[in-house]
Amino acid sequence: MPSSNVMWVEKYRPQKISELVNQKEILGSINSMLKNQSEMPHLLFSGSAGVGKTSAALCLSKEILGEHSKDYTLELNASDERGINMVRERVKKFSRFAGLDTEIPFKIIILDEADEMTTDAQTALRRIIEDTAKICRFILIANNLSKISLSTPNSFAIIATLIHIPFLSCLQ
Ligand SMILES: Nc1ncnc2c1ncn2[C@@H]1O[C@H](COP(=O)(O)OP(=O)(O)OP(=O)(O)O)[C@@H](O)[C@H]1O
Ligand SMILES: [Mg+2]
Repeated sequence: MPSSNVMWVEKYRPQKISELVNQKEILGSINSMLKNQSEMPHLLFSGSAGVGKTSAALCLSKEILGEHSKDYTLELNASDERGINMVRERVKKFSRFAGLDTEIPFKIIILDEADEMTTDAQTALRRIIEDTAKICRFILIANNLSKISLSTPNSFAIIATLIHIPFLSCLQ
């Protein structure tokens, strides 16, 4: 697709953690996690529309997995099915597939708009998260945290709320 036809939200999406503007608190946590990747917890990003949740998750995956990020990242978003079959078919299959490249610490599963998942799907997901903790890290993204029923203090160590960036700070 010619670059002139790419939607601006993709064209200007930050590609590296260092390109994310502001969000000092969350970036501080992310940068310290990156120094000790094997200890990285599962993550839950929340915040209103457009604050950079998806961008932060994708940047994190690229930063950790480098050239392997496409092969070892599963990104599911709002256009995908949200029920238990999606969890069984896609998440379970991806989390279980073997052949972990020795250069990467784990596979990354990004579930965008996870608050739209059904309760059954969240229950199934919780089981998968527990079973595959050694080889997968999950990044859940939600606008509405109260609709996430699977997060327990043990399974998600960081709940980061990205904040709205005042327009002027983007121009600095
Ligand atoms: N911290 C940031 N630094 C630089 N650009 C940003 C930042 N946050 C958002 N943007 C810009 O806004 C666009 C939308 O960001 P993104 O899709 O990550 O938001 P989101 O929180 O996932 O929104 P939604 O809830 O609608 O999915 C990005 O393509 C990027 O251009
Ligand atoms: Mg998003």
